[in-house]
Amino acid sequence: METKKRDGFNSRIGALLAIIGSAVGLGNLWRFPYVVGENGGGAFIIVYLIISFGLCTPLMMTELLIGRRGKSNVVGAFKAIDSKSKFYYSGYIFVLASFLILSFYSVVGGWVLHYLGESLTFSLSNLSSEDLTLHFKNLVSAPVRPLLLHFLFMFLTASVVIFGIEKGIEKMSKIFMPILFVFIVVLAIRSLTLPGAGQGLNFLFNIDFSKITMNTVFEALGQSFFSLSLGIGCIITYGSYMRSEENIMKSSIVVVSSDILFALIAGLAIIPAVFAFNFEPAAGPGLVFIVLPQIFSQIAGGSVFQIIFFFILFIAAITSSISLLETVVAYVVEELKITRRKATIYTSIIITIVGCFCALSEGALADFKLFGLNFFSLVETLASNILLPLGSIFIAIFASWVMKKKDVVEELSNYGTIKVKNLGYYFVIVKFVAPIAISFILIKSLLF
Ligand code: TRP
Repeated sequence: METKKRDGFNSRIGALLAIIGSAVGLGNLWRFPYVVGENGGGAFIIVYLIISFGLCTPLMMTELLIGRRGKSNVVGAFKAIDSKSKFYYSGYIFVLASFLILSFYSVVGGWVLHYLGESLTFSLSNLSSEDLTLHFKNLVSAPVRPLLLHFLFMFLTASVVIFGIEKGIEKMSKIFMPILFVFIVVLAIRSLTLPGAGQGLNFLFNIDFSKITMNTVFEALGQSFFSLSLGIGCIITYGSYMRSEENIMKSSIVVVSSDILFALIAGLAIIPAVFAFNFEPAAGPGLVFIVLPQIFSQIAGGSVFQIIFFFILFIAAITSSISLLETVVAYVVEELKITRRKATIYTSIIITIVGCFCALSEGALADFKLFGLNFFSLVETLASNILLPLGSIFIAIFASWVMKKKDVVEELSNYGTIKVKNLGYYFVIVKFVAPIAISFILIKSLLF
C-alpha cells in the first residue's frame, strides 16, 4: 500500500477553478466562434446548448465520480473500481488521445504567444486586412518560428505541471481564472457597444431551425465534448484529486454552466465585431488571429483591448493544456512508477516532438494530406469529432453497466451524507441515451 498522501486539490474553489480552467480554453475563445460561424449561428447554438446540458452534464458527473472513486489516473481508476473488467484498456487510448490533442493544442498556444508578443510591441496596429491575412499565413507556414513558439508553450505548460496539483495546477488556476473572467466581460461590453453590433447579435440569436442538419449535430457534439474536456479521462484525472466532501453533481453543473457562459461571452465579444466591420464569420481557424487585430486597430483604445484579448487567450489555453499534460503525467507517474519530475520532462519532450508535425503542417509538410486534411486538421478532427465521442461512450457504459449502481449512488451522494435529486434522470441518460445517441450521431455522420 502507498503510505504517502496523494497530491490533490486543497479547497473547493481551487478544485472548481481548476476544472473550469481545463474546460475553458481555446475551445471557447478560438474554436467556438468559427464553428458557430461555419454552422449557421443561432440554430447551432441551440443544439450545442441541448447537448451540453442534457448529455454532457451527466457525462461530466460520470468522469468525476469514476476519478474520485478510483483515486487514480485514467488507467488505474478503471482497475481500482473493477479489477476484472478490461475497461482499463480504454485508459491507454485516453492517454494517447491526450497526447494527440495536446500536440496540436500547443501549436495554437504558440500562435497565441506570438500574437501576444506582437500586441505588446504594437506591431499589429495599422495593418490592412490583406496584410493581416498574409501575416497569419506567413506565421503558420514559416519553417522555424511555429516550432519555437510551440516549444515555448510546451515548456510553460510543463513548468506548471511539474509542481503537482496543489502547488502547481490549483495555485495557477486560483490566480488566473478570476482575471480571465473579469477581462472577458470587459471585452464583451466593448464589442457590444460597437456600432453595427446588432447584426452580429442577430446572427448569434436568430434561430433558423431549417439550418439544423445531421452535420450540425455532429459538429455541436464534437464542440461540446472538446470544450468541456470530456471523453479522454481528463476530468477523471481531475476528479481523482477532488476531496470526498465535494458535491459532484453541483460541481458539474457549475463547470458546464461556466464553460457555456464563457463560450457565449466569447461569441458576443467576437461575432458582433466581425459583423460591425463586414468580415466573414466562417473564416475558420484564422478568425481570431486575422479578424480581431483588424478590428482592434480601428476602435478607440484598441491596442489595449488587443493585449487583453491575447493575454486571456493565453491564460485560457494554458489552464487547459496543463490538464491535458496532467492526464498523461498522472498515468506515467502512477503506472510506470517514475517521479513526477522525470515523467513531466519525458512526456513533454515526446509531445513536443509529435507537435512538430502539426506545427509544420501548413508549411514544410503542407503537401502531406489524408482525406484532404493536413496533419493538423486531421489530428484535430480525429480527436474532437471521433475519439472524444467514442471515449464518452466507453465511460458511460462503464459507469452504468459495469460499476455497481450502489457504488455510483454512494459516490454521488458522498455516502448518503448529501441529498442528490434527479438520480433517475442521471441513470437513464448515462445508461441508454448517451451511448445510443452518440453512437447514432457517429455512425450516421461517418457512414452516410
Ligand atoms: N476544453 C479545452 C478547451 O476548450 C481543451 C481541453 C482540455 C480538452 N482538456 C481536454 C479537450 C480534454 C478534449 C479533452 O480548449
